[in-house]
Amino acid sequence: MNIFTFKTEEDFVQTGANLIASLVQSKPNAVLGLATGSSPIGIYTRLAEMNKKGLVSFSQVSAYNLDEYVGISEDHSQSYKTFMKENLFNHIDINLQNTHIPNANAEDLEVECKAYDLALEQNGPVDLQILGIGSNGHIGFNEPDDHLYGGTHVLDLLEETLEANARFFDSLDEVPKQAITMGVGGIMKARQIILLARGAGKAEAVKAALQGPITTQCPASLLQCHPNVIVLLDEKAGSLL
Ligand code: GLP
Repeated sequence: MNIFTFKTEEDFVQTGANLIASLVQSKPNAVLGLATGSSPIGIYTRLAEMNKKGLVSFSQVSAYNLDEYVGISEDHSQSYKTFMKENLFNHIDINLQNTHIPNANAEDLEVECKAYDLALEQNGPVDLQILGIGSNGHIGFNEPDDHLYGGTHVLDLLEETLEANARFFDSLDEVPKQAITMGVGGIMKARQIILLARGAGKAEAVKAALQGPITTQCPASLLQCHPNVIVLLDEKAGSLL
């Protein structure tokens, strides 16, 4: 793993944006694996600026998102579909038809999960997967557990995740209790992974993920088995390493 700790937000953002932009410059039809959460927002904003300046084009890129809440409509202000449009897709020249987010409103979620994996298999592998990390070590919405799933699946979110994500909703009660997420198998198939973490609240999870034992109780620790991971941290997230 290549671990970089940045003193400034600007360096964190520019490095993340440069890594993504240089892949797309060298492979215009790259397949990107995208994440939501606050960690990648600055990087997405910078990519939009680079796109406007003509430095990089996403016109041939396809994108697969990691996860989506179950139980809210896709145009809900906190759906990950809305998040991606507001923070990236509406501001770059990507063809929306080439953007994919698990459809949590599908009639049959099991069929939807299988279809998502099939699409990834046919159009993948993902060239570059962006990942955040939950303060409990989750990646996508793969929560710590005795066992993890390889493929895309529906799961119950843990109380700590509901609490962490309550800040985006009017109350804890409104946070969806379930989600669809790509499984750890799907994530690990990406050719390259960039893990992003910022803030003191992530320091323990980052330490466990990068230096702890490889365990399903810290899903991000599985990244230690991946041959091509770049970790971008701010000083607080990296403080326990
Ligand atoms: C949510 C997402 C994860 C993301 C995590 C971290 O739980 N499902 O994919 O990694 O948030 O979010 P943040 O970057 O806001 O800390």
